[in-house]
Amino acid sequence: MKKIIVLGGGGFIGGHLARKLKQDGCFVRICDIKNHEYFEHEDICHEFILGDLTDPKTVELVIGKGYEEIYQLAADMGGAGYIFTGQNDANVMHNSALINLNVAKEAVAKGIKKLFYSSSACMYPENNQIDSNNPNCEESSAYPANPDSEYGWEKLFSERVYLAFNRNFGLNVRIARFHNIYGPSGTWKGGKEKAPAAMLRKAAETPDGGEFEVWGDGQQTRSFLYVDECVEAVLSLMKSDFTGPVNIGSEEMVTINQLAQMAIDISGKNIIIKNIYGKEFLTKYGFKCPLGVRGRNSDNRLFKSKLGWEVSKPLVYGMSKTFEWIEQMVSDKSYEVVGL
Ligand code: NAD
Ligand code: GDD
Repeated sequence: MKKIIVLGGGGFIGGHLARKLKQDGCFVRICDIKNHEYFEHEDICHEFILGDLTDPKTVELVIGKGYEEIYQLAADMGGAGYIFTGQNDANVMHNSALINLNVAKEAVAKGIKKLFYSSSACMYPENNQIDSNNPNCEESSAYPANPDSEYGWEKLFSERVYLAFNRNFGLNVRIARFHNIYGPSGTWKGGKEKAPAAMLRKAAETPDGGEFEVWGDGQQTRSFLYVDECVEAVLSLMKSDFTGPVNIGSEEMVTINQLAQMAIDISGKNIIIKNIYGKEFLTKYGFKCPLGVRGRNSDNRLFKSKLGWEVSKPLVYGMSKTFEWIEQMVSDKSYEVVGL
């Protein structure tokens, strides 16, 4: 039985990935600082260690001998409302960089055969993502570096950490740059949720005939990848001989208002989109509207050429699946929406 460690398996993508690895017959150990909120631990792993990976002693204990692969997804992360307000910059950089420094060192010490690292499209230069219709996120465009968030700078730094450990100590790494992954059993409230979950939650909560807020003028663009496809792509990258970094995302670019309208249509309600930004947002919430880059789209040419894998499901498929789950969460009135 192949022995695997999923770091950050108490989170969204890590939970889905761990579940798939367990279903595929692997022995799965998870470490996360929190329990999984939506999956039973027995469905996603054999061992769940609650621990803080910024502590090298914890990492020493978690990365045991005899494990073949590590999937490193643990990070201090969130959507625009978390990473673009500026309020979490120091924590994001400190927590995530420490995790990655600890993990790279310990993986070498324990002779881990292969390590996957989840980087982000947020590491691409802001200056290449100004035209909403024509953003450039080709892997080779990463340098000269100019990410628009400290979260993106940390990702770029940690890519370099793993590549340096690869060169100097032979650590066999695979690096992917995720482009906005969404789906059921992910963060959907509390301020860390990303746009797909936020739009679906708002559509589920808003009564027929009402309106909900969408940050910005709604013309900023993004692409979104359904979590099952993300897991598939990660596993195919891990099986390959290609180190990366490589994009894992969808090329179906939409404006945020199109995304919001899709959520509304899926809900079957008649809801009006209210775009809020500039002074109006600042006055209402007390900080600048968190927008991020103006345009972003995955460029999958490298992934296709190296791995032959392609995204198979349209956005509306994943959004509909995710709505079913979020609608259930919303109808469970025991939750309270905190944040924006
Ligand atoms: P998530 O927040 O659901 O998962 C991250 C997990 O890391 C959380 O469960 C969190 O508790 C854990 N963690 C944080 N600090 C920790 C610590 N000190 N010790 C132990 N565990 C800790 O996020 P996700 O969406 O599942 O993202 C997984 C990875 O993919 C992250 O590295 C993220 O930066 C990256 N990524 C995600 C997206 C996306 O759209 N979801 C996009 C780009 C990159
Ligand atoms: N979160 C959120 N909530 N975003 C909203 C909302 C809302 O209610 N309304 C409009 N938006 C807008 C944001 O202002 C932003 O312009 C866009 O929707 C996308 O926001 P997010 O999905 O939160 O984040 P992102 O795409 O800018 O960045 C995400 O993807 C990266 C990878 O591509 C984040 O999750 C990053 O952590 C991730 O690395």
